[in-house]
Amino acid sequence: MQIPPWPSAGEREADLLRMVLESPQWGGFHPFVAEFEQSFAAYQHARFGISAMNGSVTLELALEILGIGPGDEVIVPAISFITTATAVSRAGATPVFVDIEADSYNIDPRRVREAITPQTKAVIPVHFGGVLCDLQALLELCREHDLVLLEDAAHAHGSEYEGKRAGSFGLAASFSFQNGKVLTAGEGGMLVTSDESFAARARSIANCGRLPGRSYSEHHELGTNFRLSGMHAAVLLAQFEKLPEEIQIREENLRIFKELTADLKEIVWQCRLPGQTQNSNYLVTGRLIGSARDEFCRGLHAAGIPVTPFYPHTLYRNPVYAREKCRVMPCPVAETRIQDSFWIGHRAFLAPEETIREIARQVRVAVTCSRVSIPS
Ligand SMILES: Cc1ncc(COP(=O)(O)O)c(C=O)c1O
Repeated sequence: MQIPPWPSAGEREADLLRMVLESPQWGGFHPFVAEFEQSFAAYQHARFGISAMNGSVTLELALEILGIGPGDEVIVPAISFITTATAVSRAGATPVFVDIEADSYNIDPRRVREAITPQTKAVIPVHFGGVLCDLQALLELCREHDLVLLEDAAHAHGSEYEGKRAGSFGLAASFSFQNGKVLTAGEGGMLVTSDESFAARARSIANCGRLPGRSYSEHHELGTNFRLSGMHAAVLLAQFEKLPEEIQIREENLRIFKELTADLKEIVWQCRLPGQTQNSNYLVTGRLIGSARDEFCRGLHAAGIPVTPFYPHTLYRNPVYAREKCRVMPCPVAETRIQDSFWIGHRAFLAPEETIREIARQVRVAVTCSRVSIPS
């Protein structure tokens, strides 16, 4: 099967990297860093972009700017990568884990409402796999209760709802360019925002408290160094040139793939809101009914398809939260999805059409082979 490797680089990455290597500035002050920040923020429909070493420190930076700390609560989904929650804990605040929606895998606004207390300061929804959360409902809730909406958009490069991109809904949004993401330099992150004072503080804290136009040796904020390097920006600029086309290829291949597998009643694919006009398709997620998930995944894996049997547990079941303070709302949906779900990595859907047809065939075979026999 011709599934392309990921990440993958060509001459353009090498050329831009060489330009950095041949310059006297390999670090965060290379002009490629500012160029990438401006281009990517604009692509996500935000006014400002502040890059950083990864998409975990960007979450921590955002919480610091919001002044969130001890005594505060921040609502997060029960299903995500760990740093969505640990960013809150590292700020000294308490993450409150709430359940996800059964079909979108995203935080359930009804469950968010039930979790709000006078201590709640913010909500961090995650656009799981690139599928946008119910932002209308979340924004309404946040307005009603005076909460900040901070999007964890680590999966959602290019995802858009009615023409408006991920990262332009909340006060700020955090993106990741880690190795597996649809836009990557191995590591990297960016906070995007359209709030000028938020952006100025983020830029200053991430750059040792410096201020634009002031001396390099003057430090005005209790900042640190989160800067992305010029070498990372070179790779990201080259990868970014390919992103819009890769998104289109994945969208079209998924349309074909879903048509070919539409009759398989054993699989329920993650669904997006009808208004979602573009999806990064970072993780193509689904769940199985009446089939053994692990056997199904073993079958696909043996056929060379990049499949993962979902997260092994909800966030609050990580050992760190046996120790760290947190509040856990009932999460029956998330606990079920842990058992029955899987995802296929985005690189599978960059394959040529004949491979997409072969992936659909292999999915059919794996479903058939993993059917659970119901004892009569
Ligand atoms: C939802 C989510 N949030 C945050 C992160 C953290 O990003 P990074 O790995 O760049 O620190 C990730 C990355 O894997 C993620 O998937």
